[in-house]
Amino acid sequence: GRVLSVASECVPMIKTGGLADVVGALPGALAKVGWDMRVLMPAYRALRPRLDDLDEVWSEQNLFGGDARVMAGEIDGLQMMLLDAPHLYDREGGPYSGPGGDWFDNARRFAALSWVAARMARDGIDGWKADILHAHDWQAGFAPAYLYYGGSGGVASVLTIHNIAFQGWAPAQALNDLRLPYDQFYPGALEYYGGLSSLKAGLVCADRITTVSPNYAAELMRPEFGMGLEGVIAQRGAAVSGILNGVDTGVWSPAAEPVPYSLKSLKGKAANRAAFCADAGLDVPGPLAVLVSRLTDQKGIDLLEACIPDFIAGGGGLAILGSGDPLLEAAVRRLEARFPGRVSVKIGYDEAYSHRLFAAGDAVLVPSRFEPCGLTQMYGLAYGTVPLVSAVGGLADTVIHASPAALTAGVATGIVFHPVDATGFGQALRQLLQLYANKPVWTQVQKNAMKQPVGWEASAAAYAALYAEMLA
Ligand code: ADP
Ligand code: GLC
Repeated sequence: GRVLSVASECVPMIKTGGLADVVGALPGALAKVGWDMRVLMPAYRALRPRLDDLDEVWSEQNLFGGDARVMAGEIDGLQMMLLDAPHLYDREGGPYSGPGGDWFDNARRFAALSWVAARMARDGIDGWKADILHAHDWQAGFAPAYLYYGGSGGVASVLTIHNIAFQGWAPAQALNDLRLPYDQFYPGALEYYGGLSSLKAGLVCADRITTVSPNYAAELMRPEFGMGLEGVIAQRGAAVSGILNGVDTGVWSPAAEPVPYSLKSLKGKAANRAAFCADAGLDVPGPLAVLVSRLTDQKGIDLLEACIPDFIAGGGGLAILGSGDPLLEAAVRRLEARFPGRVSVKIGYDEAYSHRLFAAGDAVLVPSRFEPCGLTQMYGLAYGTVPLVSAVGGLADTVIHASPAALTAGVATGIVFHPVDATGFGQALRQLLQLYANKPVWTQVQKNAMKQPVGWEASAAAYAALYAEMLA
């Protein structure tokens, strides 16, 4: 079968978070189980040089205020379709914001992407006709709606929620501009607290809804996690499922690091740790924890200030790589200043440096308040960098807590804490210090972690099964 995947980010072309990793990995993973997936995304300014190598397969004269065309072909091994609409995407800055903050016309920019996706899926392009339209997050939320209201032409749609916190809000007055039917403006359809939400539109109109872990699917039906959309999701319960993300084990493999190591011998890991600590000026007698993350509220970064001092006093150390909220950046910098030789902070985005941290670290911290799936705990598993995570979303689905029962059964892969507050996190860090001090048990947990399958195989099979069900 054929699937048109539509999203705002895709690795290796453009990334702000895990969404891009997943969108970029799915085509390869699905090809192995017999599905032909192509990805449609905007031709942002940084991608314009690539347009020369592609062929025009579609055009529209007035796509939300300007000329647009779709250019298709292979980029970095993926079958890509780039939506070239300079009036919407040829701008200085990131995919969602410029120097002055979020683009004022984001609703329109991504409605346009969704519109083109629905049209291309329905009409087919260049001899390629999709069986399924797979939309990701709010940026593609209107795509299932355009299909539903405009006639689907037999194309089935699925919407994947990677993060419910971003809902694509627009004022009610935008209905017309966004090419949506006025008579559908009521709470059971497009209306959302007096306005519009592209994510809600997708949730109401898509044939199926998935999210990136089974636990997050269940959480989303409750007000603590649904962020206003819990009712809509609960109502569509029978159409909702959770499929865990995988990670690219070709890229995330300790065997591919400067000093390679593996399940059989962890010696290389110690060498990576020593080299990193020397470079970063760290001297850590106990466990070296690492954290690679967007520095935002979601990620529980504010808990560090309260909990890390005790962890340091117990012999621990911490290396952080991240960027985001200026207040949180300042907070982690204060920790670094307060604990020289024990805390090292790098503000910024740096793939190579993040590899170094996973290869060097003893544990990876993921104290998120909510986490649809999470990828860094899975890098931790693959690297024997024991994940210490909060019991939310995909974190709870991927890490087996070192409880007495799990330790006795020999299956523990990390530390899982709840509730997500300074008391819970602090207690988990104390358990980390104790576990690390007990070498045989620690090594066992590390090895259990490294044995966990974190590749795309299981996820690809689950998506393939879902698609097959949708076509049946
Ligand atoms: P989210 O998508 O919510 O940010 P995920 O854990 O799903 O969380 O994905 C985050 C991805 O971004 C991971 O691949 C992680 O390694 C990467 N990442 C986050 N911050 C940085 C950074 N500062 N430098 C390098 N990689 C980062
Ligand atoms: C979102 C979530 C993250 C998830 C990623 C990919 O950014 O915050 O938990 O792993 O999407 O699905």
